[in-house]
Amino acid sequence: MENVETAGHSAAPQGMGRTAGFPTVQPLQGFMGAAVTGLDLSKPLDDSARDAIMNALVEHHILVFPNQNLTKDEQYAYTERFGEVEGHVVRGLDGVKSPQVHMVSNLDLDGNPTKTPATSGNFFWHTDKSYHDIPSLATLLHAKQIPPKGGSTQFANIANAYDELPDVMKDRIQGLRAVHSWEANRDNTFNRPATDEEKAERPPVSHPIVRTHPDSGRKVLYVGIHTSHIEGMPVAEGRELLYRLLDFATQPRFVHTHHWREGELVMWDNRCLMHRATGDFEMDKHARVLHRTVIRGTVPY
Ligand SMILES: [Fe+2]
Repeated sequence: MENVETAGHSAAPQGMGRTAGFPTVQPLQGFMGAAVTGLDLSKPLDDSARDAIMNALVEHHILVFPNQNLTKDEQYAYTERFGEVEGHVVRGLDGVKSPQVHMVSNLDLDGNPTKTPATSGNFFWHTDKSYHDIPSLATLLHAKQIPPKGGSTQFANIANAYDELPDVMKDRIQGLRAVHSWEANRDNTFNRPATDEEKAERPPVSHPIVRTHPDSGRKVLYVGIHTSHIEGMPVAEGRELLYRLLDFATQPRFVHTHHWREGELVMWDNRCLMHRATGDFEMDKHARVLHRTVIRGTVPY
């Protein structure tokens, strides 16, 4: 963390200078997450600032950048500084495939709030793109419109969850691989079935249930709503075990709730967190709009 200024040091004021500035990192209350200030993310990020942000992400798992105002192109440019930006398999309500800067919202095609948004799978615990053979490293959400009350996002620390598993369960799941798929996601989240085109694009993949975070070296309980069964185990038995592990990992002591403010950009580490949207707001009355980008990760091991 030597590149990161500690809380209390003055940071470059936002909106000044030709580069984004250098981050000041202040841990949030609770057991994980940090606020990152001193940056204007619409401007180019130099290598030292990027490295400091990555170090902070590995240490704190969730980074909250307040008071940003990025266009989609600017969000893309910022995201790209950390790796390859990924598209998404899902089509929008209009049937058009999502671009690399994807809009997460509860709006219908006419732009009105609705109780039945296209992306209701977000309400279930998951890690982004675990149904890819190479799942995502991090996700970035930039809050454009937030309801006056509610609409929060929850994060479960699956590294802490692994640490607290009883040894007998650690022994039982060591070496097991869970099958993840877009088809399972659609089924498990009560959505429309995956289309043949989507299934062809994203066939099932398997990942170790206990993965190792490539930067921190910590072991992680890598489960979530994208799973269907466990390789080499009867389907029903595997599903039951996966749901028990999901229940364990999402106990309140592992969960942090983020209450959004407009203008925030939140970046989180999918290699050690699950997340879900709570949907705890009047969805047919208020708009909730966030712009999402996702950074491609590495093969879990
Ligand atoms: Fe997600």
